[in-house]
Amino acid sequence: MASPTSSVITLHINGEKFTLPVDHRTTLLDALRERLTLTGTKKGCDQGQCGACTVLLDGRRAVACLQLAVAAEGREITTIEGVAEGDRLHPVQQAFLELDGYQCGYCTPGQICSAIGVLREHAEGLPSAVTDDIRPEAGPPPLTPAEIRERMSGNLCRCGAYVAIVEAVARAAADGDRTAAVTESEEAVA
Ligand code: FES
Ligand code: FES
Repeated sequence: MASPTSSVITLHINGEKFTLPVDHRTTLLDALRERLTLTGTKKGCDQGQCGACTVLLDGRRAVACLQLAVAAEGREITTIEGVAEGDRLHPVQQAFLELDGYQCGYCTPGQICSAIGVLREHAEGLPSAVTDDIRPEAGPPPLTPAEIRERMSGNLCRCGAYVAIVEAVARAAADGDRTAAVTESEEAVA
């Protein structure tokens, strides 16, 4: 029911539509967790500093605690519940699993969503604060551990699983490169 301080909105989350009334002050994080029981997205600081609530909005990383639910209407929202394809884990999830990129796991959904965003930003050639050559024609820089640490620096891990997190992101990036190379060579043969 709409009122001066609330609206009925429709959110597109993980390929599904959810229609719900929300107070205009409701954050996307609270809408996900408290209203839609999508509790994979975690609340850490609730003030944009820890990255635990990271989701993808139209494929870009965003902290859901600083986003109003009403402002997310019309965006494609992807949460950790939506990154796998059925039983097939996303390559970033698989790498975190294989390389123990977590300890308690509380920061992990945010780390994984952030890493998916990082790989996309990197593939698009976006530089980071530690990229040496930021000329567009230089293309994506090598995804070194320093690059990964900088690009993932918005996601804190109180367990200190950073070493394995960096390795997992590097593994997922390398797997993605291999897949792209195989696809390109298959297309060349066809
Ligand atoms: S809970 Fe959103 S950044 Fe910490
Ligand atoms: S694995 Fe525990 S906070 Fe990161």
